[in-house]
Amino acid sequence: MNDGKDNAYTMRLAQAGHIGDGKPAKADTVISQYTDDREDGIGHELILPPDIRSAVDRFLTERDHADALAAHGLNPASKFLMTGRPGTGKTSLAALISRRSGLPLRTIRLDRLLNGLSGKTLENIGILFDRMRFVPCVLFLDEADSLLCSRRGRDDVSEMRRATSLLLQRIDDWNPMGILIAASNMPELLDPAMFRRFDLRISMPAMTGNLAEEIIMLRLDEIGMRLDGRHFENAYEWGSRLTPALIVRTVDGLARETIIRGGDVIDVDELGRRFGRLAAGQMRDE
Ligand SMILES: Nc1ncnc2c1ncn2[C@@H]1O[C@H](COP(=O)(O)OP(=O)(O)OP(=O)(O)O)[C@@H](O)[C@H]1O
Ligand SMILES: [Mg+2]
Repeated sequence: MNDGKDNAYTMRLAQAGHIGDGKPAKADTVISQYTDDREDGIGHELILPPDIRSAVDRFLTERDHADALAAHGLNPASKFLMTGRPGTGKTSLAALISRRSGLPLRTIRLDRLLNGLSGKTLENIGILFDRMRFVPCVLFLDEADSLLCSRRGRDDVSEMRRATSLLLQRIDDWNPMGILIAASNMPELLDPAMFRRFDLRISMPAMTGNLAEEIIMLRLDEIGMRLDGRHFENAYEWGSRLTPALIVRTVDGLARETIIRGGDVIDVDELGRRFGRLAAGQMRDE
């Protein structure tokens, strides 16, 4: 591990976009081999409850004070685990952290990292994480449960077990000049040993009527539409039983129909009905 001062210096280099071998992070061929620079998250603002928003703010603020922390031999928090149902904003939050930290987002390509050949997965993890020590990124491990699943009771004794152990070690050795983000829809599958390795652990919030209202209003504002009707509470109440992704998708669908009919005002009663049908379908699936 580097000491704190070293890290603060490297972090400044990282923020300047050059590091180690002097090449910009984007051009790194090893990193490109195992990760993607696609941004799947949204471009718009995420609506998060105040406690999560302030936890993320604190996490990012520490990076602005890397020098002060280093003077006391401390590093800023740099490892972040988020769990939550599909469509609750995990990928979008990783993209937001990348934008706000100024570090490029690199999503691990599990199809490249995992390899059936004996020892190859371990070698790939080693190569990627070695390189990460010199290239400042937000490294995003989506579907973390596939790599960090519990080693207990698994019959694939050798390769995947060792891959999980190696990854846990590499997470311990993570260089705080970068940010490591892991996300999972299935936290119950995660190896218990991994939780304490993350500085910040967030479980994406359950939806509430207020959050649903904020997400609807933000989305309408972004696409230049308005709401009309009487039963706003219905829409918010039904919306509170959906995920943010379903809310945005339903608003967008109704907006497209409205625009094609030549309007820019969305019928809130119809929006509530659609949310209601989706929520009922979702409950049947559960
Ligand atoms: N908190 C939120 N505020 C506003 N919009 C959101 C929020 N969460 C999700 N969305 C909307 O849902 C879409 C999908 O979100 P995202 O892909 O980030 O979810 P996810 O948790 O990564 O899902 P998965 O587990 O399926 O990968 C986003 O593009 C955005 O439109
Ligand atoms: Mg995602």
